Amino acid sequence: VSPADQPRSRNLLGLQGMTTAAITSYLDDTRKMKERARKAKGPLEDLAGRTCCLMFFEPSTRTMQSFATSARALSAEVTMFTAGATSSTVKGETLLDTATNLEAIGADVFVVRHRSSGAQHLMAKRLAAMARSGEAETPGIINGGDGCHEHPTQALLDMFTLYEHFGKLKGLNVVLLGDIKHSRVARSNAWGLTACGANLTFVAPTAWIPEGVEALRSNASGAGDLSVSHDIVDAIRDADAVMALRIQKERLAGEPGPPGAAFAAEYGLTAKRMAHAKESCVVLHPGPINRGVEIDSALADSPRSLILRQVANGVFVRMAALARCARPRRGAGGKP
Ligand code: NCD
Repeated sequence: VSPADQPRSRNLLGLQGMTTAAITSYLDDTRKMKERARKAKGPLEDLAGRTCCLMFFEPSTRTMQSFATSARALSAEVTMFTAGATSSTVKGETLLDTATNLEAIGADVFVVRHRSSGAQHLMAKRLAAMARSGEAETPGIINGGDGCHEHPTQALLDMFTLYEHFGKLKGLNVVLLGDIKHSRVARSNAWGLTACGANLTFVAPTAWIPEGVEALRSNASGAGDLSVSHDIVDAIRDADAVMALRIQKERLAGEPGPPGAAFAAEYGLTAKRMAHAKESCVVLHPGPINRGVEIDSALADSPRSLILRQVANGVFVRMAALARCARPRRGAGGKP
């Protein structure tokens, strides 16, 4: 049983293998956080006296700002550690050593983005090993994106936004469009959405459909379907939501695949193509958007677009995640 299977796990490393109940309880916590934050006159006190350390080894705008805002909205201290995104020496042991040093300084929860898939899992293991050799509590780790692997808080905020809009996830038809193969957002959404009973269609050229794509469907009972299409117009006819994804240029490493303009011509989400969708069909994007490539500028800004709602909801999802993952205040009997 992986730690992610436990609804009250101290780490949030990914949605793969997470039970439907565990995911639902995250979405529930998010709803409660949003209500509390909306009613409160100032910051909530949930993480007063605790420190949240943001470690970003890859570029980020939304995710880092969103986590910093969330931590402050819970009265946490925020420290930042950002490494040069181009340095190829920052991996493996360096990350672990950095983490154990920052832990020694007093971080209670880490948010980590790293270009190597699995980096946060290694970090979690190292911190757990330290705990066995005498530490009472280790800080929790939240995965802010690891390589092409997972980006759980992004998927949770996408799912929360869809849930808020439609009042359900079960039975929704969701299209994920673009560079699925290199997208951690696609993987986390695939495991999360299908676990909650949504049916997912990946739409992409063959080069951008990962091998063994069936493994991205949750194995929870009652999981939604996962299918692949190479025809965007056909795929959006029955869709309730379409999420466009950026081409992950930094991860392509010379792999074959159409250049942006060719992709846009055959697959790009345009108003003309969206005319084939249901009137109620909404459009999402995790950002950053490459306007005119995976999505038309006017469509991104249209009333169909939930893109800025996704960003706004990200703060509440991350508040819920931080409140769960931060180690309990020391000397407070294990209670936060
Ligand atoms: C995504 C990421 O970093 O994985 N961005 C984000 O967190 N909102 C998607 C991307 O970079 O295309």
